[in-house]
Amino acid sequence: MKTDSGIIGQSLDRAKEALESGKLVAIPTETVYGLAANALNPNAVARIFEAKRRPSFDPLIVHIPDASHLDRYTQDIPEKARALADALWPGPLTMVLPKKPIIPDLVTSGLPTVAVRSPRHPLSQKLLRQLDFPLSAPSANPFGYLSPTQPEHVADQLGSEVAYILDGGPCEVGLESTIVSFENPGKIEMLRAGGYPREEIEDLLNTHLAVRTHSTSNPSAPGMLAQHYSPHTPLMVVPIGSDTGQNPLSLDSGRSLHPEQAKIAYISLMPLKEKPAWATDHFAWTESGNLRQAATRLFALLRTLDRSNYDLIVAEQVPNQGLGPAINDRLARAAARS
Ligand code: TXA
Ligand code: MG
Repeated sequence: MKTDSGIIGQSLDRAKEALESGKLVAIPTETVYGLAANALNPNAVARIFEAKRRPSFDPLIVHIPDASHLDRYTQDIPEKARALADALWPGPLTMVLPKKPIIPDLVTSGLPTVAVRSPRHPLSQKLLRQLDFPLSAPSANPFGYLSPTQPEHVADQLGSEVAYILDGGPCEVGLESTIVSFENPGKIEMLRAGGYPREEIEDLLNTHLAVRTHSTSNPSAPGMLAQHYSPHTPLMVVPIGSDTGQNPLSLDSGRSLHPEQAKIAYISLMPLKEKPAWATDHFAWTESGNLRQAATRLFALLRTLDRSNYDLIVAEQVPNQGLGPAINDRLARAAARS
């Protein structure tokens, strides 16, 4: 469904003009759509937090065209960080590094570090090269909801908050960037699983990546909230092979839904010969089990099912290899109840 509001289009000039006057523009990246503003203008950045209803303790990622811009905004850059940028940018990698004073405190929620990345989508690349400032951009969804992977997703929820939505089509990766922090010398940490698998980064760095676990209360690990990316419809995540087992509702006494009466959508990685007896409908992330394809469909399918009057969505975990851990991470957070 294309909204006819006239705010979705492919004009780089319109995007540039709006951003230069401090307005918000939704931009396509290879991961998810971002809600962008001039990262060097605190008033523009403040609009991002208002539009998303995002708590101000959750800092933003700054988007730059390429690694040659790193030194403008960050300092004390370790060799390994430069090596990662050279190997993986543009692409779904965000690095947390000590910030320079030019980055406003609002962007980093007062932290001494800033998260930076160079997105690979050709339109965001072109746009960033035409601007004389970087773009701070969180995912373009209301705080806590599923991330948008199509321009229409942004229009549906934040259409009244943005001056323009730059249409780059559906996102190629479909999952947010992998976040790697270099803030503690001698210890490189992964803060979020994402579009680049952990093993790929470890191979490149020839180093083990420590994984920082999420926290709802520790502001030094902002944004790693246990509950996030959530549809309004309750979501349950079940182990692989649950289609042949019992109704998951009868195993979970904490739900008020009636196992026999609830309308349940079941999602598994691949098509099934037969849908589980307890499911109303069955959906597959992919035809073949390819995890990259599953990632591209993850948020869009959950969004569609969220609008389809099911009482419960049950999603089967995917194998923990390649993008699997990132997919399982999003599913677990989407299913968590605060
Ligand atoms: O793929 C992506 O990264 C997308 C696209 C639009 O680029 N952006 C995105 O942004 O996912 P957002 O705001 O939804 O998630 C950014 C995460 C948050 O969890 C935030 O807490 C963390 O990055 N973050 C940002 N700055 C940080 C910092 N200085 N230290 C630790 N974590 C930081
Ligand atoms: Mg987000």
